[in-house]
Amino acid sequence: MRITVKQERSIIIELLSRMKVPLKDAEIVADATVDADIKGFSSHGLGRFPQYITGLKVGTIVPEAEITIEKESISTALINGNHKFGHVVTFRGMEIAIKKAKETGIGLVGIHNSNHFGIAGYYSDMAIMQDMIAIVIANTEPAVAPIGGKEPILGTNPIAIGIPSNKHYVSVDMATSASARGKLMEAMRKGEKIPENVALDTEGNPTIDPEAALKGSILPFGAHKGYALAFMIEILAGPLVKAAFGREVTGTANSEVMCTKGDLVAAIDPKKFVDLEKFKEDVDDFISEIKAPGNIFIPGDMEVRNVKRFKEEGIPIDDKLLSQLEEIADELSFDLEALLSGK
Ligand SMILES: NC(=O)c1ccc[n+]([C@@H]2O[C@H](COP(=O)([O-])OP(=O)(O)OC[C@H]3O[C@@H](n4cnc5c(N)ncnc54)[C@H](O)[C@@H]3O)[C@@H](O)[C@H]2O)c1
Repeated sequence: MRITVKQERSIIIELLSRMKVPLKDAEIVADATVDADIKGFSSHGLGRFPQYITGLKVGTIVPEAEITIEKESISTALINGNHKFGHVVTFRGMEIAIKKAKETGIGLVGIHNSNHFGIAGYYSDMAIMQDMIAIVIANTEPAVAPIGGKEPILGTNPIAIGIPSNKHYVSVDMATSASARGKLMEAMRKGEKIPENVALDTEGNPTIDPEAALKGSILPFGAHKGYALAFMIEILAGPLVKAAFGREVTGTANSEVMCTKGDLVAAIDPKKFVDLEKFKEDVDDFISEIKAPGNIFIPGDMEVRNVKRFKEEGIPIDDKLLSQLEEIADELSFDLEALLSGK
């Protein structure tokens, strides 16, 4: 079946409110989750919601926790999420980064004691909307083996970079693994195979079985280059921000254990370097040059195309996810059927 943006948003807000998540926080989680689904990142959309409900039930997500600033300078901050919803903590981290960037040219915020935040691009978009450049990185529980190794030690370590422009949405948002782990989890839920050359089983052999891949390891994207980038992110979003790194990172896919990953978010004000309008014109000129031969994508085009499509067609929900949502709704005495039938 397909649901509308409004229905998805309502489902999340209604269910989270019943789990004592403050309304403004539930709205952030809902907006970030819908954003993932409409951009085509269903691996990090509503499909991850049951994982968050588990986290709330077992106490790895603490809805009423307060985010605290542990260390601060005019352009940096280290914040402790105290295990609040990851979406809410990274949202707050980017708000602080943008405020500092407005004052000093750059805001760099490290985050620890948080939780899975969905897609990195939701937070870089916050900066773009204020004519800022953004970089968002995070580490995750291990999934990727270093080149030459078999055992996963690195996370799928996402990176998003957003750039303001007058005419285009300019954003890259991706895992540093050949596939996001969420895509493997989604394939397993739907009973589908995964593409070739994405993952290895526990013996180090290539596999297209998502379950074997989740037990084994995901390859880095772009061979040694993806590994090298994931390696750097592991440190910048780990030890630098008082978060765990390597084997010690837990709780991003398995929400039954406390989450120990970290994030690093940056906002940069182009005005502190050049004239903003000239910068945005240059970005647009470059994109025109790139697109001149026709039928060429830039980073961000895929998201724009998907947003239009899923807003028009609705967001697909597979049967397994629907039954998971029905179960959660029943437990929380929420009439999901009425909402879905528009009653
Ligand atoms: N929260 C976490 O711990 C976590 C971990 C890993 C990934 N993620 C998220 O998973 C999502 C999916 O990651 P992925 O690696 O599977 O994404 P992907 O491989 O689908 O790559 C997506 C990016 O590539 C760009 N792109 C696609 N085709 C292009 C083309 N032809 N030319 C130029 N650019 C193009 C898109 O615009 C997009 O920005 C991301 O949103 C990421 O933030 C989150």
